[in-house]
This record gives sequence, structure tokens and C-alpha cells, in this order.
Amino acid sequence: MKQICVVGVGYVGLVTAACFSDLGNRVIALDINEDRIEGLKRGVMPIYEPGLKEMVDRNKRAGRLSFTTKYADALNGTEFAFIAVGTPSGVDGEADLQYVASAAQAIAENMREPVIIINKSTVPVGTGDWVADIVRSHQTEPIPFAVVSCPEFLREGSAISDFMQPHRTVLGSLDPEAAEKVAQLHLALRAPIVITDLRTAEMIKYASNAFLATKISFINEIANICEELGADVKEVAIGMGYDKRIGPQFLDAGLGYGGSCFPKDVKALAYMAAEKGRHPQLLHAVMEINNDRRPMIVSRLKEMIGDLRGKKIGLLGLSFKPNTDDMREAPSVDIAQSLIAQGAEVRAYDPVAMEVARPLLPNVEMVTDAYTLADDSDALIVVTEWNEFKQLDLDRVRDCMKQPVLFDGRNIYDPALMKSLGFTYRGLGRGYNGSKSDLITGMTKAAV
Ligand SMILES: NC(=O)c1ccc[n+]([C@@H]2O[C@H](COP(=O)([O-])OP(=O)(O)OC[C@H]3O[C@@H](n4cnc5c(N)ncnc54)[C@H](O)[C@@H]3O)[C@@H](O)[C@H]2O)c1
Repeated sequence: MKQICVVGVGYVGLVTAACFSDLGNRVIALDINEDRIEGLKRGVMPIYEPGLKEMVDRNKRAGRLSFTTKYADALNGTEFAFIAVGTPSGVDGEADLQYVASAAQAIAENMREPVIIINKSTVPVGTGDWVADIVRSHQTEPIPFAVVSCPEFLREGSAISDFMQPHRTVLGSLDPEAAEKVAQLHLALRAPIVITDLRTAEMIKYASNAFLATKISFINEIANICEELGADVKEVAIGMGYDKRIGPQFLDAGLGYGGSCFPKDVKALAYMAAEKGRHPQLLHAVMEINNDRRPMIVSRLKEMIGDLRGKKIGLLGLSFKPNTDDMREAPSVDIAQSLIAQGAEVRAYDPVAMEVARPLLPNVEMVTDAYTLADDSDALIVVTEWNEFKQLDLDRVRDCMKQPVLFDGRNIYDPALMKSLGFTYRGLGRGYNGSKSDLITGMTKAAV
């Protein structure tokens, strides 16, 4: 049993704290946000993540997990201090490191015994060295410490299983002994452990996220071409995905990537490259393709229903992806704002994100379920591919709409089925607007 402190109880920090305590360690989770800590002490989760509340409650009851706002308490007897604070985008796209800096400073000022400081936040290459400088310069007395980079690869919505069964653990340090101790801490996860230097570990995280974002923009570019040529991108992705060199994941054409990681991390990597005089062409193309997706949806909808003034549009889903309430960089925000700017009346339903979304979208009416949303609507847009939307009673949806128009921003429905049900339906990249019979007729005509 090791004693661990986790700084920051957001999506990454709280999952890290809960999982390490579940593995039998004693974990003290710290945050400067008093409401979050008070809530956690009372059993109120600051975020939605499937299975997290149960795990937090269980480990609190077992006495392995506790919460504090005081660094001195969190560091008392702690061998490992994970930093899991936010690193949002700064003004020019660079990562804003103010929270990492203040966490490092507070650790330095409050440590009374040797500690291994582990950066779990996604931080620019070179930050590990910088954190070491901050700690050194703010220590009240010289106490040995080491800095290890341990980037986190979990996905919101499946964070617990991603944490507990990672594809790999990446550790970077200039101190082999410290890296070895952190590796021991992760042995219970039974995943390959890559030990490298600090900067390389930091780069592995950015390169991984940039690669996944590239896959998404790639398939969205292919979707655009499919539309012109009459191919179905969904089947193209399936056909590509069986190739083990390609793989099926992150090949879903749709509204593009959002959330707290890909947008800021691709931007930050491009910024790091540009700062060193490089022109990261591929990263710029990835961002450009992604940025085009949201306005494109609104213009496509106008092609389907004409002028948006006075039209009632329903958004199915608000969170940036299913199984989370995270609204950071969610496509729904841009889409709703653009629809409203063009005179539409926008309503929305999301299974868990409506509370978080409300202050971001004060002019959007939130409703209790998908059928209420459909009621009297001129069009529905699938924004988030929640499972419950895949199983809707589509006859009922059609019957309560003013006109049965559905724009499927996540390609969750079968175009032929939607057409047979009487919907005016459009997905993204689904060939001839999803009508295979048009394609066959077209080919037959050409042959004749
Ligand atoms: N969210 C993800 O899916 C994900 C996945 C992998 C990596 N990451 C990276 O992990 C880091 C954290 O992301 P997140 O989504 O968990 O952020 P978050 O915004 O959900 O949580 C950050 C928490 O840190 C707290 N905090 C800020 N400054 C602090 C300080 N000085 N001391 C103590 N607490 C402080 C905040 O109050 C907040 O509760 C980021 O660098 C992010 O890029 C996130």
C-alpha cells in the first residue's frame, strides 16, 4: 500500500484518485475548488463519469480515499504526488500552464519529506524540467524530489476501464530510480510500460492525440469526397477498418472532434512547432477540416428546410460525445448559436449534459426527452450519438414533428430505413444523400 496525493479532482484527477485507491493505495485527493471538495465529502460528484460515483463511495467507506483543499494535509506522508490540473488553450493556442505552475509551487512550499511529483496533465514538451525549476525555487528547505511525466490516455465516458486496462503506461524521467518507483505503482494495471526521458514522454501524449485527431479529420475529408462521388463513408470506414494497419477506431465521419483534449492539444502541438520555426502543415489541415464541420451542418440544414427564421430546430445531444457531461468545445454550442443567429428557435435534449450546458446556451430551451423535442419541430439534428437515440421509436418521432426532417450529424441511422419511414433524411458522406436506389438507377441508366 502506497500513499498518493492527486492534485485536481476533474475528469482525470478524480478517476486517477478513485482507481489508485481501488487498487489498495491510500489516496488523498486535493483541489482548490472548495465546492468540489465539500461535495465529494458529501458524496456529490463534480462530473459525470459512468461507474465513478460507486468507486469513489466504496473507497471512501473503506478509508482509502479522502478529500482536502489543504496541500499540507495532502502531502503529509505522501510518496507520490500526481498533478492532474487543467491545461486549457492560451490566447495563441499555446497551453496555459498557470494551474500547473501554482500546483508545483504549492507542492514545493508544503512538502516536508521526499516526494515524486508526477505530471499527469497534458503539458508542452519541456514542462517537466520547468516544474522541477519551480519546485526547487519555492522549497523552504532543500528536500529531495523527482519529476516524472506520466501522461494520461483515458477517454471520458469509459475513463475507469481505460485507466484500469490501459494499452500502455508511458513514463518519462531523468531520474531512473524515480521512474522505476512509479512503474512499480502501475504494475497492477498489467500493461506494457514505456520508460523514456521527460520530453519524449510529453511528446508521446501530443503525438498520440494529434494522430487520433488526424484520423477523424481524414475520414471527414473522405466523407466530403464520398458525397460527391456517391460512395457511403460508413461502409468505406468498415472496409478500411478491417485492415490491421488502419484499424476501425476513430473512423466515424461526423461533426468532427471536440472536448477538452483534441482541440487544445493539436493547437498546442502546432504552436510548439511554429515557435521553433516549423510549419506543421498536416496539423493545420487537421484543424481546418475540423473547423469546417460545424458551419457545414447549418448550411446543409438550410438546403433541406430553407430559411431558418422562425423554424423550430431540436438538437439530439449536447455533450461533445456520449457518456459524459463535458461540454468543452462541444459542437452543439457552435451549432445552436449559429442556428439562433439565423433566426431559428432551438431546443435540446441530452441525457446528462443539460445542467452543464444551460449556462453556455441560455437561449436554448432544454426539454425532458427526445419525443418532447421532436414535438412540433421543423427539423432534428443528431449532435451526440447517445445510445438511447439509436433506439428511438422513429414512427413516433416522425408523427409528432411538424415536418419529418432529420439531419444525422453522427450517421447513427440507416438512410434507406429513414427514407422508408418517410423522413427527409441526410447524413454525412452517405453517397447520393443516402439513397442507394438512386445510385443503382443512375448506374443502370448510364449502362443503357
Ligand atoms: N479530460 C480528459 O479526457 C483528459 C484525458 C487525458 C488527459 N487529460 C489532461 O489532464 C489534465 C486535466 O484535465 P481534466 O479534464 O481532468 O481537467 P478538469 O478541468 O476537469 O479538472 C481540473 C481540476 O484541477 C483543479 N485545479 C486547478 N488548479 C489547481 C491547483 N493549483 N491545485 C489544485 N487543484 C487545482 C480545478 O479546480 C479542477 O477541479 C489536462 O491537462 C488534460 O489535457 C484530460
